Amino acid sequence: MPSVFIKTYGCQMNERDSEAVAAQLLARGYALSESEQDADVVLLNTCSVRDFAEQKALGKMQSLAGAARRQGRAPVLGFMGCMAQSRAGQLLEAQPRVNLVLGTQKFHRAAEHLETLLSGRQRQIVDTAAEERSQDAIREHLVPAGVRPVTAFVSIMQGCNQHCTFCIVPQTRGAERSRSIADIVSEVRGLVDRGVREVTLLGQIVTSFGRREIPVRDGHSGFVQLVEAVHAVDGLERIRFTSPHPKGYGDDLIGAFGRLPKLTEHAHLPLQSGSDRILRRMHRGYTRERYLDLVRRLRAAHAGMAVTTDIIVGFPGETEEDFQETVSLCDAAAFDQAYLFKYSPRRDTPAAAMPDPVPPEVIEDRHARLLAHINRIALDRFAAFVGRTVEILVEGPSRRNASRFEGRTRDNRIVVFEGSERHRGQLLPVRIERCGSFTLYGDPAIVGLDEPHPEPSPDELPVLLNP
Ligand code: 5AD
Repeated sequence: MPSVFIKTYGCQMNERDSEAVAAQLLARGYALSESEQDADVVLLNTCSVRDFAEQKALGKMQSLAGAARRQGRAPVLGFMGCMAQSRAGQLLEAQPRVNLVLGTQKFHRAAEHLETLLSGRQRQIVDTAAEERSQDAIREHLVPAGVRPVTAFVSIMQGCNQHCTFCIVPQTRGAERSRSIADIVSEVRGLVDRGVREVTLLGQIVTSFGRREIPVRDGHSGFVQLVEAVHAVDGLERIRFTSPHPKGYGDDLIGAFGRLPKLTEHAHLPLQSGSDRILRRMHRGYTRERYLDLVRRLRAAHAGMAVTTDIIVGFPGETEEDFQETVSLCDAAAFDQAYLFKYSPRRDTPAAAMPDPVPPEVIEDRHARLLAHINRIALDRFAAFVGRTVEILVEGPSRRNASRFEGRTRDNRIVVFEGSERHRGQLLPVRIERCGSFTLYGDPAIVGLDEPHPEPSPDELPVLLNP
């Protein structure tokens, strides 16, 4: 049986795509390798959002090819995902040792192409064409043998129609295409039957879900109708979604946070800039005032709403004054967490041709100042949790310290506590004792625990194949 190793760069959508490819290959008899060293197939699932991510994957592939040559091995090497899509055949010219270039609408074709390559019928395959209904193909889940999954990501759509001037995603992921509500609900049911208690609905712009296909009903958008349908799945405890667009928060979605108890009180609202002038040049479709109004309305809809964001520093033409507008917006919004990105020009995007690029040392300086500023605000908000009792969903051993367990609060904060396997999958009240850097440390409160979660039976297959 051939073994495969998949390395993923970039966002949760990419993680999800890699998981689906791994599950499909496992179902076809492949073994999943723990290391790239001895795998028969190595696939890099790439990200193009910033140049840095592309360079990392290109460097990695070069070192894989070099190591294989030195060891006298000839594994099948492949690029998948966003960089594969946007660079296609150029990747083979630059790195002739590569065998497979698989685009973002072709993940489900990995097995058939690998079969051709492993049999020696062909040495190189580039498949980056568009494919009808490729959004329906990301549905298989992978769970290590003997482990009960607690949370799962569910891909609800692909593509993006926003055309923000800095962003390469419309080129790499294509136009928006949504799955059907029935299909998604059936995937969620299958997951819940296997023990999953929380799902995160995933897509480039989830708030645009079904915009063309699903008529608005009683003032509820296609996305809100989807959340309602998923909410009705018995046994599911929590619903999250990412990533939305601030423009997509209509009254129907804001109201859903108060109305649907499984919808957790966390909104990720990518801001990008606090300056109206820069927001216009970015083609974001909102102003600073409208953004702040949205934050206020979300916090009014649910006490305890956590608001997180993405910000780009150093967009072309950004002056110190524009930057200060971003700083002051961060004060006003009091973000619970923010991801900061240094602007990276992307080929064939309108911003790449805009005048007045910000010098790299200015970008560095603004990045460092804003990071210190937002970390102060966000850590204050974390510290306010000390002494409170909050409900967490226990996910498993802590990623920072495997001798402890961790779970997440409804508003998406990680809580580490002294736990054991019997806590996995439980909704557990914990008292927060102290606060580290973006992590809370808690003690299970002595009030009503859930029933212990059932152990998985030893003969359970490691793959979930959905209906
Ligand atoms: N440069 C820097 N950051 C970018 N992002 C998207 N495109 C770029 C770019 N060209 C950031 C945005 C987005 C996040 C996923 O990546 O902040 O929300």
